[in-house]
Amino acid sequence: MGAIFTSPGRTVSAGVVLLIIIVAVVGAVTGQWTKIDHAWATYAMVWLHVISGVLWIGLLWYLNFVQVPTMPSIPAENRSAITKHIAPNVLFYFRYAALATVITGLLVAWMQRYILEALMLQKGFILIGLGMWMALVMAFNVWFIIWPNQQKILGLVPATDEQKAAAAKPALYASRFNTMFSIGMLYFMVMQRFAPI
Ligand code: HEM
Repeated sequence: MGAIFTSPGRTVSAGVVLLIIIVAVVGAVTGQWTKIDHAWATYAMVWLHVISGVLWIGLLWYLNFVQVPTMPSIPAENRSAITKHIAPNVLFYFRYAALATVITGLLVAWMQRYILEALMLQKGFILIGLGMWMALVMAFNVWFIIWPNQQKILGLVPATDEQKAAAAKPALYASRFNTMFSIGMLYFMVMQRFAPI
């Protein structure tokens, strides 16, 4: 067990192996084997989509509910542990999870043949279209507002003290905006399957 649980990569691989074993056991017990067809590929894409979405929004909520509110109570001499080590790592997973969520989400819509109808908010796809547009605005914020400003704040690109101070507000507000949007976005994302409008 130690060989698996001492590495996050091996832990995730073990999760995938465990999933395959469980699916095989369910197939053997029920006699209903998973058919690898288009429907399966679509659901597998939804699965990858939800996994990347959970990573993205989980880190967004970690930043908003844990890291940012806790910073003022950390003694100034210890804050570099966050700004130099934890935050750059968080932002790496954060922005690539956002990208993966967009790509897998668009693929899910494309594989179900309603991508244009959803993006154009046509009847039957209004809810998922709204969810997709909200999430696209959020991903734009991540890559083009939060990340460039955080690079200045964390000293990952050269910036004067004034530029660092000026970057704080747009970075915080875009992150708070995304947290606000995440509530409605997730409602529309999951409602499409239950009650399409
Ligand atoms: C631009 C980004 C996104 C796009 C294009 C997108 C697109 C989609 C599409 C097309 C579906 C399938 C809806 C259906 O047919 O029932 C879906 C479902 C879903 N998405 Fe997204 N999505 C995005 C962002 C997110 C984010 C950030 C999350 C956060 C976790 C998320 C979570 C989900 C969930 C939980 C489902 C429901 C799956 C189900 O009911 O089977 N999505 N998304």
